[in-house]
Amino acid sequence: LTRKDLKGKKILVSAGPTVEPIDPVRFVSNHSSGKMGYAIARAAEKRGGTVTLVSGPVNLDAPVGVERIDVETCEQMASQMLSNLDQADIIIKVAAVADYKPIDPKTSKIKKKDNNNKDLCISMAENPDILKLIGEKKTKDQFVVGFAAETDDLEKNALLKIKKKNLDMIAANLVGSSDSGFKADTNKVKLFFRDGSLFDIPLMEKEKVADILIDQVIKKMG
Ligand code: PMT
Repeated sequence: LTRKDLKGKKILVSAGPTVEPIDPVRFVSNHSSGKMGYAIARAAEKRGGTVTLVSGPVNLDAPVGVERIDVETCEQMASQMLSNLDQADIIIKVAAVADYKPIDPKTSKIKKKDNNNKDLCISMAENPDILKLIGEKKTKDQFVVGFAAETDDLEKNALLKIKKKNLDMIAANLVGSSDSGFKADTNKVKLFFRDGSLFDIPLMEKEKVADILIDQVIKKMG
C-alpha cells in the first residue's frame, strides 16, 4: 500500500527535452525521453500529491491523475513553469532544457542550394535559465530540486549548480552510458543538499529512483 505522504502538497515537475526550431522542418534538441521526469510525476501522484507536469515532446502517456501541460521550446517551458510556480510546494526540474536556441528561426525551409556547398552556420543565442529564475523567486516554504546531467566531474559541477541556481537539492546523474541518464530505464543518482549532505542512489529502475528521491525531499522538508 502506497503511503499518502504528499497529500495536500502541490508538486510542479518538468520533464523531457525542449526543441528549438531552426526552420519549419528542423530543430536543435537532446536525447531526453522523459522517463525520469514522468517516473517522478507518477510517484508523486501515487503518494497523494497534486501534480502538474510541464513536458517537452516525448513518446509517453501522461501519468493517470497528473495534469500535463505540453510545451516545445525553452521559452514556452519557462512561461508555464513560472505561471504555475506560486501554487507549488515542491518544484522538481528534470527537463533537459536547450541552453542555446537558433537566433533567427527561418519561416521557410532552408534549401541546400542556397548554401552553395559551403558550411552552414546557425547562430545560437542563450536561452533563459528556468531553474535559476525559479531559484531567485522561491519562497522559504518552497523546496526546489534541480537535476544535473554531467559527463565528467559530477560532484564538482553539481555543487556549483546548487549554489548558482539557489536550490535545496540537486540530483546528479552521469550521462553518456547506456544504463543511466538519457533514455535508459535505469538511473544512478547522487543527491546533494544545500547543507552539504549527500545521499547515494545506486543503479536501479527510474521508478524506484523517483520514490527514493521523494523520500529524501520529504525528509529534508520536515
Ligand atoms: O528523460 P530521460 O531520458 O529519462 O533522461 C533523464 C535526464 C538525463 C534528462 C535527467 O535525469 C536529467 O539529468 N535532467 C537534467 C538535464 C539537464 O538539462 O541538466 P543540466 O545540468 O544541463 O541543467 C541543470 C538543471 O538546470 C536542470 O534541472 C535543468 O532542467 C535546468 N535548466 C538548464 C538550462 C536551462 N536553460 N534552464 C533550466 O531550467
